[in-house]
Amino acid sequence: MSLGTETRSPWVRLSRRRDRAGEYGVSTMQTRSINLRVDELLARMTLEEKVGQMTQVGVLQDEHVEMVRSGAIGSSIVASSAWAGHEDQPDVVVDRLNEWQRLAVQESRLGIPLLMARDVIHGFRTIFPIPLGQAATWSPELVERGAAVAAREAAGVGIHWTFAPMVDIARDPRWGRIAEGYGEDPVLASAMAAAAVRGFQGDDPAAPDRLMACAKHFAAYGASEGGRDYDTVDVSERTLRDVHLPSFRAAVRAGVGTLMSAFHEIGGVPVTANSHLLTGILRREWGFDGLVISDWNAVAELIDHGVARDRRDAARLAVLAGVDVDMCSGCYRDHLAELVRSNDVPAATVDDSVRRILRTKFRLGLFEQPFTDNHRSRTILHCAEHVAAARETAAAGIVLLRNEGGLLPLGKRCSRLVIAGPLAQARRELFGTWTLNGVESDVAAIADCVRQTAPRGMTVTAVGGLVDEICSAARKSDMVVLVVGEHPNRSGEAHSVDQLGLPPGQGELVRTLAALCKPLILVVVSGRPLALTWEAEHVPAILWTFHPGGEGGPAVADALFGRINPSGRLPVTMPRSVGQIPLYYSRKNTGRPPATCRFRSHYIEGSYRPLFPFGFGLSYTRFEYSDLELSAATMSADGQVCVAARVTNVGDRSGDEVVQLYVRDLVGSVTRPVAELKSFRRIRLEPGEGRRVEFVLRPEHLAFWRLDGTWGAEAGEFTVRIGPNAVEGLEGRFTLDNAVAQAE
Ligand code: BGC
Repeated sequence: MSLGTETRSPWVRLSRRRDRAGEYGVSTMQTRSINLRVDELLARMTLEEKVGQMTQVGVLQDEHVEMVRSGAIGSSIVASSAWAGHEDQPDVVVDRLNEWQRLAVQESRLGIPLLMARDVIHGFRTIFPIPLGQAATWSPELVERGAAVAAREAAGVGIHWTFAPMVDIARDPRWGRIAEGYGEDPVLASAMAAAAVRGFQGDDPAAPDRLMACAKHFAAYGASEGGRDYDTVDVSERTLRDVHLPSFRAAVRAGVGTLMSAFHEIGGVPVTANSHLLTGILRREWGFDGLVISDWNAVAELIDHGVARDRRDAARLAVLAGVDVDMCSGCYRDHLAELVRSNDVPAATVDDSVRRILRTKFRLGLFEQPFTDNHRSRTILHCAEHVAAARETAAAGIVLLRNEGGLLPLGKRCSRLVIAGPLAQARRELFGTWTLNGVESDVAAIADCVRQTAPRGMTVTAVGGLVDEICSAARKSDMVVLVVGEHPNRSGEAHSVDQLGLPPGQGELVRTLAALCKPLILVVVSGRPLALTWEAEHVPAILWTFHPGGEGGPAVADALFGRINPSGRLPVTMPRSVGQIPLYYSRKNTGRPPATCRFRSHYIEGSYRPLFPFGFGLSYTRFEYSDLELSAATMSADGQVCVAARVTNVGDRSGDEVVQLYVRDLVGSVTRPVAELKSFRRIRLEPGEGRRVEFVLRPEHLAFWRLDGTWGAEAGEFTVRIGPNAVEGLEGRFTLDNAVAQAE
């Protein structure tokens, strides 16, 4: 049976389907809880059907027809993951998905609908900035809206479940997947994780414009040795709890429906077989009742890790650890039923997993409405409203790193502008990694947008690749904009690097252009922070955008010409060299704090300081901080301290400032970071306008994994700082008068 070319309308059959749906349908929903309905269905399932629910396959193909009919498949990834986010795969056909669904709900014994999953990471057809770029907006509101747009478009073509958000903390820019997350900080990432979950799922993931979200890759995937993807992780329980788990906790608190376990090992135990993480912390401590899916083929990879003898053993370890769905390895399909029959896996373990899977399907409303209206997507894909949202987010994520002599925005001083560089004409490359449904013709190149946006009287010459050509055009110009950076395939999954400069050839181009003594503006488009130390000293203006998505062109042009005022802030520390990695602001003080003198934590050559700190970003206006106030000198165990400062726009144009609150716990039962972001707020100020920005600190904000293995705050003294980034600001002090235990 070929499903590829069929055009039969599933709606004809839907009426029949609805009769059966009534068994588990809306009317019963009002009187019985989902859990009762799940148990009722579970009681009717054979062991093989249960294992079927726990089995996910890739793209559904002819070979799967009988499997779907017999209930041997519970979900499908509507994409081939062979290239894991590095190629476009536009082919999502609603009718075809509906047809597969029809097969499941009408021709399988119990009519359990399939879950259709896809990696909708930063947009479906309308592409938003990569998550790292969204984090640079420091705006959870924009992140939530971006996820909502992605959900609306993807749900419109029949996708139910996205493998997003990725909430892994990344402190090593060599790791290609730093592009997919929200940066180095647990508080910023937690805010974005919760926002993305709200955006994808809304109040009800069953709504026709929402998806089920999946927080991934649980946990500490970003801490791999050498920044090599999939590599060994060895973090302490403390680092796990303080740094890597909070963003997952935030996603769970926000109601995320599913989680993905990660590929790597932690301290000798691969996550796919890690019951401490998947059952102990996730289910027992946090009470998560959604499903956990393995990463692609990760169950079988327990053999490569060297903890499973064979595929049967791998299935046993994964299911006992708490992996409910086997993504594409086939180990559950081939061995799980027999493992139960031989008592190597308790039947109750399988039942618990199946309950979680069915619960997810009920929560998605698939028993009531398994099909997708094939007209819905037509009006919403890449509609004007979505494009406008993507443009606003792209603009808000642009970070101005340098602007000597107020070179930017471009204006009257420039009547002949040259724009060149390897990414000046880039279109699809602006999307970044994981954009299966992005369409190149939706994108305008930065050079074209600059040409269109330039004021009357300014001549813009876009020059192609050859250095000589660029130089000769540059000589005849007043200023040069060079668009450099990374092709998306230099970042993302399995794309780690061991150098953090510009890709080969680009550094030379920048130096050649800088030597011409024409004012040079660098626009950097990248999937990670890069160590552009030479450039930061020699190039007067640097505008940075992490792969900005389909609206990157107009957003960058708007920033260059001052139609928008850059307001993005770094969600990661920018290092000076690859040798400094890992480098992050919330480091420990050590017994011999960094300094340039001998026998201190430092390098004998080079600096221990970052090129640009976490939270940094300039504006075309200037903000001043004054009048730090603390509402009290002491915080009681059930009390709070309000910390406020006045922020004033002392420049001559309106702008957004991201006001950041950092705390340092001066003495703890264990060593504490020199600074920890606790809160932030993005505010708009008109020229001359000042505003008092107030944050409320409570003991729960001071909590950490204490020496005795409990989560909570400890009595003692704290410094608190309100400022524009991780190293500047106004500092005060307060005391917490009693230790306070808290739920993590
Ligand atoms: C990636 C996941 C992704 C999955 C499914 C894996 O290779 O690690 O992030 O969701 O493929 O495409």
